[in-house]
Amino acid sequence: MQMTGNTILITGGTSGIGRALAEAFHDRGNRVIVTGRRSCLLDEVAVNRPGLIGIPLDLNDDLSVSETTEQIRARFPEINVLIANAGISRMEDIMAESWDTSAAQEIVNTNIMGVLRTIAAFLPMLKSRPDATIMATGSALAFVPRADFATYCASKAFLHSWLQSLRHQLRTLPVEVLELSPPYVQTKLTGERQASDPRAMPLTTYIADVMRMLEEGNHPHGELILERDFPRRYAERDGRYEEIFTAMNLT
Ligand SMILES: NC(=O)c1ccc[n+]([C@@H]2O[C@H](COP(=O)([O-])OP(=O)(O)OC[C@H]3O[C@@H](n4cnc5c(N)ncnc54)[C@H](OP(=O)(O)O)[C@@H]3O)[C@@H](O)[C@H]2O)c1
Repeated sequence: MQMTGNTILITGGTSGIGRALAEAFHDRGNRVIVTGRRSCLLDEVAVNRPGLIGIPLDLNDDLSVSETTEQIRARFPEINVLIANAGISRMEDIMAESWDTSAAQEIVNTNIMGVLRTIAAFLPMLKSRPDATIMATGSALAFVPRADFATYCASKAFLHSWLQSLRHQLRTLPVEVLELSPPYVQTKLTGERQASDPRAMPLTTYIADVMRMLEEGNHPHGELILERDFPRRYAERDGRYEEIFTAMNLT
């Protein structure tokens, strides 16, 4: 994709990876619109980067999605890049007496249906553009799961598969389909502790790497994944799946 002159819509742009991507693209001369539920953060994003636009959108609310996306399409018909990034993560203890499917339902609604709803709302517009990009945020955990985040990992595995089919179906159109597969990054995805966890990659370092990969077009098969995650990505191919799964799930 071109790195400047785009009009980019980013879901889940109030914090973490989405917000950092929004600021990086804004700094490179793109028009950027971000969405999310927390309106105070939408205001803060716009104040920090004058010109960046924040619009409230709850991807789990059908009415909000249909009304807001219609407003966004009418106001910004020039959108040519969609980054479906919003997501949630929940730990699940399936052994617990109290375990039920409520967390799983929430994850499926947001991480799977939220991404599909977003793409469905903007695809008709993007299909008519000469240079469109759809990027969705998956995870390196799509390739080998952490069992304590069972539905979360499965939701990202779903996206990995679904994006391949989307890419294939759109192959005759100038719509690039990218899958962003972050490693463990310092954001508040699983709570405050993650944002300063020394085992997680600093957010600024990760975003700099992503922007470099995009600039260089370094995303074979549409996959943006750091080299350090290649062992997980290719675990099955390399005959290392059991070994890596065991190492990731020691407790
Ligand atoms: N950080 C990591 O280690 C990591 C690793 C792999 C993949 N990822 C993926 O990266 C993406 C961004 O996560 P993050 O780490 O940056 O965490 P984050 O800071 O918690 O960001 C999540 C974003 O999603 C939005 N969101 C969540 N539910 C939503 C809903 N129902 N409607 C609209 N927006 C919603 C949040 O905005 P509001 O709360 O304001 O609605 C927020 O902007 C996610 O898809 C996540 O799975 C993260």
